[in-house]
Amino acid sequence: MKILISENELHQAVKKAGTWINENYQGQPVLLVSILNGAFIFLADVCREITIPCEIAFMSVKSYYDQTESSGNVQIIMDLQQDIKNYHVIIIEDIIDSGRTLYEITHMLKARNPLSLKILTLLDKKARREVDLNADLSLFNIPDLFVVGYGMDYSEKYRNLPYIAELDFSESFC
Ligand code: IMP
Ligand code: MG
Repeated sequence: MKILISENELHQAVKKAGTWINENYQGQPVLLVSILNGAFIFLADVCREITIPCEIAFMSVKSYYDQTESSGNVQIIMDLQQDIKNYHVIIIEDIIDSGRTLYEITHMLKARNPLSLKILTLLDKKARREVDLNADLSLFNIPDLFVVGYGMDYSEKYRNLPYIAELDFSESFC
C-alpha cells in the first residue's frame, strides 16, 4: 500500500488544527462534534492539542453507498445528547468527498441554533464535490483516490493504520 500522508505529517497537521481552535475559540463554550466512525482517531489527537476548555460529543450516521461512493442518503444512527444552542460547534470530520454527508448534517445542526457551526476536516477531495459545502479548515487537499488508515476504512478494515495510504484494490484483503 502506498503511503500518502505519513505519521509525522499527520502530527504536524493536527497541531495546526489545535492552534486554530485555541486561537479562535478562547473564552467561548466549544463543543467538538465527531462523526463516527472515521473521525475517531483524528478527534482523539486534535483534542489533545486543545488547551482551552471544550466538550466532546459523538454522532453516528449511516451514508448509503454505492460501492465506494456516497449516495447522499444520510440516516442518523446515534444523535447528540446535548442541546447545542449554547455552544460554538466544531464538526470534526475525517474526509469530505461528495460533501453530501456533511451537507445533510450541517443543515440538521444549524436548525438547532448553535452559537456558531464550523467544519474542521482532515482530508478534502475538493474535485469530487457535488454539493455546496466547504470546510472552514481542511488540513490536506487530496486527489480523487480512495484512502484508508488513521480512522478511515474500506469495508471496516485498515482504520488502525497510523498513516494514510492509498488503497490498492488489487491488494486489499476484502
Ligand atoms: P461524502 O458524503 O461523499 O462527502 O462522504 C463522506 C464520508 O465517506 C466520509 O466521512 C468517509 O466516511 C467516507 N469516505 C469518503 N471518501 C473516502 C475514502 O477515500 N476513504 C475512506 N472513506 C471515505
Ligand atoms: Mg466520516
